[in-house]
Amino acid sequence: MSEKPNAIYLKDYKAPLFLIETIEMEVDIYDDFTFVKTKLKVKKNHSLSTPQNLVLNGEKLEFIALKINNEMANPERFSLSEQQLVIHDFKEEAVEIHNKIFPQRNKSLEGFYQSGNIFCTQCESEGFRKITYFIDRPDNMSSFLVTLKADKKRFPYLLANGNRVDQGDLEANRHFVKWHDPFKKPSYLFAMVAGDLQRVVDEFKTQSGRKVGIEFYVDPGQGYKCQHAIESLKASMKWDERTYGLEYDLDLYMVVAVESFNFGAMENKGLNIFNSAYVLADSKTATDDDFQHIEGVIGHEYFHNWSGNRVTCRDWFQLTLKEGLTVYRDQEFSSDQLSRSVKRIEDVRRLKEIQFPEDMGPMSHPIRPSFYIEINNFYTATVYEKGAEIIRMIETIIGKDQFKKGLALYFKRFDGQAVTTDDFVLAMAEASGKDFSQFKNWYSRPGTPRLKFEVVYDPHLKNAQIKIEQIYPKVGNEKGDLGVLEMPLKMSVLDSYGKTIQVEQTILLHQMNQTINIPNIHSKPILSLNRQFSAPVEIDYPISKEELITLMGHDGDPYVKSESINQLFIQEIENLFKKLQLDSQVTYDLPKNLKDAFLKILDDKQIESSLKSLYLQVPSENQLLQKLFPLDFERISKARTLFLKAIGHSFYDFWLHDLNAFKSKGTFGVSAQEMGARAWRNTCLHYLFHGDKNKTEPILKDFFNSAETMTEEAMALNLYCQSDYQVKDEMITKFYKKWKHEPLVMLRWFGSQASNFKPEEFKAGMSRLETDPVFRKEVPNDLRGLYGSFARQNLVSFHHQSGQGYQFMIEKVKMIDRFNPQVASRLLGQFSLIVKLDDVRKT
Ligand code: ARG
Ligand code: ZN
Repeated sequence: MSEKPNAIYLKDYKAPLFLIETIEMEVDIYDDFTFVKTKLKVKKNHSLSTPQNLVLNGEKLEFIALKINNEMANPERFSLSEQQLVIHDFKEEAVEIHNKIFPQRNKSLEGFYQSGNIFCTQCESEGFRKITYFIDRPDNMSSFLVTLKADKKRFPYLLANGNRVDQGDLEANRHFVKWHDPFKKPSYLFAMVAGDLQRVVDEFKTQSGRKVGIEFYVDPGQGYKCQHAIESLKASMKWDERTYGLEYDLDLYMVVAVESFNFGAMENKGLNIFNSAYVLADSKTATDDDFQHIEGVIGHEYFHNWSGNRVTCRDWFQLTLKEGLTVYRDQEFSSDQLSRSVKRIEDVRRLKEIQFPEDMGPMSHPIRPSFYIEINNFYTATVYEKGAEIIRMIETIIGKDQFKKGLALYFKRFDGQAVTTDDFVLAMAEASGKDFSQFKNWYSRPGTPRLKFEVVYDPHLKNAQIKIEQIYPKVGNEKGDLGVLEMPLKMSVLDSYGKTIQVEQTILLHQMNQTINIPNIHSKPILSLNRQFSAPVEIDYPISKEELITLMGHDGDPYVKSESINQLFIQEIENLFKKLQLDSQVTYDLPKNLKDAFLKILDDKQIESSLKSLYLQVPSENQLLQKLFPLDFERISKARTLFLKAIGHSFYDFWLHDLNAFKSKGTFGVSAQEMGARAWRNTCLHYLFHGDKNKTEPILKDFFNSAETMTEEAMALNLYCQSDYQVKDEMITKFYKKWKHEPLVMLRWFGSQASNFKPEEFKAGMSRLETDPVFRKEVPNDLRGLYGSFARQNLVSFHHQSGQGYQFMIEKVKMIDRFNPQVASRLLGQFSLIVKLDDVRKT
């Protein structure tokens, strides 16, 4: 056994002994190293009776010198280790430190590193200590004054947080730019960038009439792809003013897009750094989903300026304080931009597909964990997406207006401070008068709760009794009594004809067992439960197929409607799954009642196209494997394909008709209607393909060749990769030749193939792709696009009985871990399924 790494506990939190009030930095960038000089003004945080050591974090730094009160420090005054610089008996003296770093060699993409020709930083959570020695924790908030120096020709742009206060030329063709950030901030929000970039400028006028400069920096030649991101930023700024009265606070907002980035983007004060995938888009290279993700991530980082930067986290256990709240805010923003129903259904599906399994497996943790070993492993769907659901429940419980009041109080009271989730909840409680002490259990309890429903109908008394039980899974490593959860459950009641007999109510559940009575009803009621997904729980409600069809046809809540369709689909696929075990040649057609219900939705002109596409989406294999036992991946895939075929086949002419009818006639646009039409055409094409492969081949070919947007082209490519058509390879090559100069487009090319290689071909296929000159072995996007797609989308090959899929991934992860542990760790996600695997696969 290797040595057990040390865990850090929330209960051990202590405020820092010292705070760094100001840091003056000078960063000199040279060809093979960067020189960093800092001057620190350090103050005691509380009155210390005896002199204490000043402990500064520092990793992978080359120490050069330490000056105390302008004198070279005596060697006895300090000690240096792999992770710390300790100054003994510190008495608030002036500190100056010189050190060297090597961005060119930094492949972990944490600290200061090189991405293409751009030098940039990533400091959250603990990357600043890879730049210089510092008290690198979020409750140490400092004023930053930063001077960057570099060769003028190679690095015409030198950027850091805040306002540009000085610039000029230096000897030897070098220049400098000086930046001052007027807001105190923790070091994780520090950023600097140097490079030869293309700048795209715009402007925003705030509600109070101030002008804010907007500057986007991208690789030369890519500027024309920024427009959507810039519009999204301006829309975010407007939305936060209108919704919460929150205004941007600096004169300048900069966004830099880089190709090598470990995740989506980073909210550094005034200088966001983005994965280029979330900035660059035009209709030819980006899909409609890409456009929407860009809007969402631009919004997310912008909203952090208040929820994260102005009010930040006391320690990293509080991560959900800023991330859960900011995800909630970006979800609300996106809901207001396009379609609230579509956004809600998509968000919930994502939560169920990614967060639910995370919360049931070995990675299960509460949104505020009580201990961690490596904080980078806690940037999870749980902390982010479940965290957002907890915020949403607070909003549901106290209502939108009280929630806004609470948020206003939170920002006012804690502006400029580093605080905890308890502080947040307290502000909500004070503003609304609601006691949240029981609700707070959500912050410490891991696992997805289950609500078990039992309906007892008495036809004589015309009375229905609904019994609700909360059931908690045993998961995670949290100790002690985790308490009973309080949650808002939105429900309505329908009769067997689909008529609403009780309109939507919000019931506050707060006991393990609760009973609700519904008097005066004339037949057994159908419950429409957890409307809008008001609580992040699983619902266990015995419901018949007929009742589901009634909900599917009559429920007024789009989420419940989509859930009912989803459940029906799963039931059908499950039946097929069982039949396939006995007879691999099973044939299948849609049962009459399902066909009718399906047709009703197809014909409903009231439903917007993007929502209709979502309704009719067949559950993914990843969703199905949560419901089907045993985990026979080939059989899951087969059952799903048979079901797709039946839908495709039953309505073949309908799909064909709409494929043509919804063809765009105008210019490209990203309105809900235009994107809806493209989504619907893709749905049609998908079903045509599954309905009749032969008949659809020429249709697909035509679709591919006449595609005007990446939304269409990517769909076609994906279907080709799934197919056995003779022209398959030809088409894949055609796509390659057209797009090989566009790295973001090539991610699809890698991903679509990796998702579809058959078990006997995946090894050769993957090795062909990873040796392709276009594949970049150290760029996270490419690694995720190739290996991530394989493990996440290609379940049949990844989970193949032979174990070759697992072996393949493990080799890759080990190799990647040597230079980029963060990317490596994320690629392991699919292995958490291990708890559900059979013994052969487990071994
Ligand atoms: N704060 C960033 C965001 O959510 C993400 C930073 C991720 N950092 C990490 N070490 N995993 O916008
Ligand atoms: Zn965030």
